[in-house]
Formats: sequence, structure tokens, C-alpha cells
Amino acid sequence: MGRRALGKWDKTLDLSSHLVLWDDLPSIWSQRPMFDVSQPLEVEIGTGKGLFLKNAAIAVPERNFLGIEISRKYARFSAAKLAVNDLKNACVVHADGQRVFCEKIPADALVAVHIYFPDPWWKKRHHKRRIMTESFVGEIARTLKPRGRLHFWTDVAEVFQNALEVLANESALSGPEEVDPQEVEHDLDYRTHFERRMRLSGVEIHRAEFIKK
Ligand SMILES: C[S@@+](CC[C@H](N)C(=O)[O-])C[C@H]1O[C@@H](n2cnc3c(N)ncnc32)[C@H](O)[C@@H]1O
Repeated sequence: MGRRALGKWDKTLDLSSHLVLWDDLPSIWSQRPMFDVSQPLEVEIGTGKGLFLKNAAIAVPERNFLGIEISRKYARFSAAKLAVNDLKNACVVHADGQRVFCEKIPADALVAVHIYFPDPWWKKRHHKRRIMTESFVGEIARTLKPRGRLHFWTDVAEVFQNALEVLANESALSGPEEVDPQEVEHDLDYRTHFERRMRLSGVEIHRAEFIKK
């Protein structure tokens, strides 16, 4: 399923408190100056239109939420949502999530990593571009704190199975803990835009959680 046009947003909004560019990231990620440093940090890779980031930041004000989005227009769109809601505990980095993890995020820094509906890269020759590679899963394990959680959801059964196989080889993560659909499938309670689209089209969603040992 392709992407839909973005809704209208006020392009004159000041995004300086909610959008960070790769070139402006410090050499090692620090919660300062964007966030209250005493709060635990959760990261979402592939923020898309930013529904999860906005709702999570509103629902859990005692945690910080960092979204990483490779597309400039989606990063700006999500940052605008956070700015309109004047959220002090969420921001978006416009960058490649894999680079941010490998080059910027220190070990044992995160209480949760969220990956929802990553690009499936359908063609066989493109499978190597899928996000859940052995090395990237190693980065997730490295950056999570002990007892930190990885949340992974997708509508593509093959992507889910591939990810589970890669995750099974990562000894620092235990799982999968399957997520009971009855706990997450409430009408009007969609975690992301893609979840909304897929559920409204009757597509099955595959969900798993892993915990850092
Ligand atoms: C299929 S969309 C899903 C968006 C959102 N998670 C949702 O469920 O609605 C995948 C998103 O991941 C972003 N993305 C793909 N590769 C990425 C990367 N390496 N780093 C950060 N974002 C990435 C894409 O630009 C796109 O916005």
C-alpha cells in the first residue's frame, strides 16, 4: 500500500524545539537541551506522520520520546504535531535511524525502542535494506537498558518471520512476548497511522515484544 498525501499544516510554525537535524546532533546523543534529563527515554524509528509520538508523549508525560524519521517532509509534519500540542517531552530527529543508533546513542540509554510498520522492501534484491538486520538488532540490544523493551509491529507476515529469526539469534534479548490483540485492538485507539489503515482494511497485524536481559 502506497503513502497518502500529508494533511495540511502551518508551515510558519516554529519547529526549533521539536525538530533536530542530523548535522545538529551532538557526537553522542544527550537528552540536553531538548528534554528534562531526569526522564527515561523511548525511541521510535520511522515515525511517519507522528501519531504514536504525539499520543505517547501526551499519555506518559514522565517519559521522553524521540522519533527518528528519514523523510524530511514526514519529520517536519510530525514535529509540527508536537509543536501544535506544545509537548516538552517529544521531538523528531530528521535522520537515518540506523546511523543515529550506530553513531550517536550510547549503551544502556533507552527504556524502549518502537518499530511500527517498517518499510517492507518487497523485492528480493532489496531485502537487505529491511531494518531488522543482525547488526541493527545488535544495536537495539546495546542501547536498551536492562529490562528495556523492543516493540515491533508489522502487517507483513514475511517481514515479521524474518525479524523473529534475526531476533532469536540476539542473546541479549528475550522474547517474543506476543501481544494479545484484545489488549491493543480498540476502535479509535490506533497506535500509528499505518495500523489504522491496515486494520480498517481488515489486514492482520503481527506484534511482538522483546525484553533486554
Ligand atoms: C511504512 S512507514 C510507517 C510509519 C509509521 N511507523 C506508522 O506505522 O504509521 C515507514 C516509515 O519509516 C521511515 N523510514 C524508513 N527507513 C528509515 C530509517 N532508516 N530511519 C528512519 N526512518 C525510516 C519512512 O520514511 C516511513 O515514514
